[in-house]
Amino acid sequence: MADNLKDKVALLTGGTSGIGLEVARQLVARGARVVLAGRSAPQGQAAAQALGGPEQVRFVAADVSQENQVQALVAETLAHFGRLDLLFNNAGAEGTPGPLVETPAQGIEDILATNVTGVLLVLKHALPALLAHGTGVVVNTASYIGTVMPFPVALPYGASKAAVLSITRGLAADPARQQDQLRVFAVCPWTTDTPMIDRLAGGNPKAKQQFATVNPSGQLATAANVAQVVVALFAGEADLPSGEAVLVDHGGATSRVQPMRYE
Ligand SMILES: NC(=O)c1ccc[n+]([C@@H]2O[C@H](COP(=O)([O-])OP(=O)(O)OC[C@H]3O[C@@H](n4cnc5c(N)ncnc54)[C@H](OP(=O)(O)O)[C@@H]3O)[C@@H](O)[C@H]2O)c1
Repeated sequence: MADNLKDKVALLTGGTSGIGLEVARQLVARGARVVLAGRSAPQGQAAAQALGGPEQVRFVAADVSQENQVQALVAETLAHFGRLDLLFNNAGAEGTPGPLVETPAQGIEDILATNVTGVLLVLKHALPALLAHGTGVVVNTASYIGTVMPFPVALPYGASKAAVLSITRGLAADPARQQDQLRVFAVCPWTTDTPMIDRLAGGNPKAKQQFATVNPSGQLATAANVAQVVVALFAGEADLPSGEAVLVDHGGATSRVQPMRYE
């Protein structure tokens, strides 16, 4: 039987690195055609080339916080592949964790611009194409932070991810959406071994290991762990109702650790 992801067209924001890149790899392996979006053209072009030929994988440079760039991203996706079936709304910025009283306003705005405005703009411009064939699937990337676990050192980031959950559930509950076939999900990953964590650890392996040791298993999640869940949602293999938020927390880690503090 043919894979139900074969020839589907997927748009992945934040598709050039970490979790997004791994989702792209798994979708390509199942025969989907993918557009990777990110701001860095050299990184995006290298990622696209490594994954497959231009008939299956394209990179489009776009900053999701800029409406004109998001509009162009969706237009280029349709121009290249003629349709859009799957959206991984995943681009995210972590900012610089620390006490709120020491956080510059610009730092707060930068996080919200990518993680909230970006998620909304991508949906705004991708929804018509996703609805055109009546079977679109959206997966938005939230986090365990700010949704199931308070995180005092990263209040703006946590707030942005709570907003992603609100957007997911609001869209799924929209009566207009219930009449069409669009399915909308969120994924809430536990701390995952990606370049984002390398940046937060300042490139220091010991600091990175500290992220792992707050988990009772002593391990970070892998991008592949999270990607398998995302791809199952795209393929309908998880058979979950629209609006579901799936916590990928490495065996219940969020119920067993204390929130990180900044002393
Ligand atoms: N790693 C974790 O522990 C973890 C846990 C929970 C949730 N998450 C979430 O997972 C998602 C993916 O993160 P990751 O861990 O895979 O990190 P990553 O490897 O740093 O990937 C982040 C991706 O987002 C893109 N991006 C960032 N800002 C953007 C913008 N304004 N416009 C367009 N693209 C932008 C980056 O490309 P450019 O820099 O080239 O734009 C990159 O492709 C994020 O939403 C993150 O918040 C991560």
